[in-house]
Amino acid sequence: LSDGVMRGIDVLMTAGPTYEAIDAVRGITNSSSGKMGYALAQAALDAGATVTLVTGPSCLRVPAVNRLIRVMSAREMLGAVEEVIDGKKPDIFISVAAVADYHAINVEPGKIKKTDQKLVLELTPNPDILSKVAHLPKAPFCVGFAAETDHLEKNALRKRRHKKLPLLVANWVQEAMGSDQTALILYDDAGKHILEKASKQIQAERLIRHIAQLYALQKHD
Ligand code: C5P
Repeated sequence: LSDGVMRGIDVLMTAGPTYEAIDAVRGITNSSSGKMGYALAQAALDAGATVTLVTGPSCLRVPAVNRLIRVMSAREMLGAVEEVIDGKKPDIFISVAAVADYHAINVEPGKIKKTDQKLVLELTPNPDILSKVAHLPKAPFCVGFAAETDHLEKNALRKRRHKKLPLLVANWVQEAMGSDQTALILYDDAGKHILEKASKQIQAERLIRHIAQLYALQKHD
């Protein structure tokens, strides 16, 4: 992306999974690798954007973004996103993180001991970071992801509407999570666009182009 389609544009991104502690050594997480998010951050940088990346735990090498914030839990991720937005509102927010839906109500400070009794964990919902940002009075241009195991289109369209997103990117969990290649389906005001299966790096470049075009269009509205 040497043509600088994002020159002068400030991009905030979230990537990776979140980790919700249960006790001192255990937690709830998911199989998101951070690959897609990091590939997008790199593609945005290559396109000339200034990139702030808020990432959950991932073993991958992080691209050389302008600002990197590492977090563990969804609530920490929300705190970091809010801090960045309060400092200087980004032009574009791309929410790639696979944010855990719930966290444990009580986190044991030590290690929970094993017994022969059943153990019940009480969970409570996490805040929806993307939805909060997209509903701000002067929201940045927001891009969401939806990874689904069934009813991809129906769920994607519902998420786009509920979260108030100009662009939602959908893919199949079975295909995308942790893998190097994925097909993407984009939903925006113009309808549906399919990005045929390719490496996450190529998909990231295609997606950055699409986002840059949509962003330029809405700016001139
Ligand atoms: O609802 P679902 O988790 O499938 O929505 C996916 C989109 O919403 C992703 O873009 C994800 O980063 C974002 N999200 C979020 N905070 C949550 C849950 C999802 O930002 N608590």
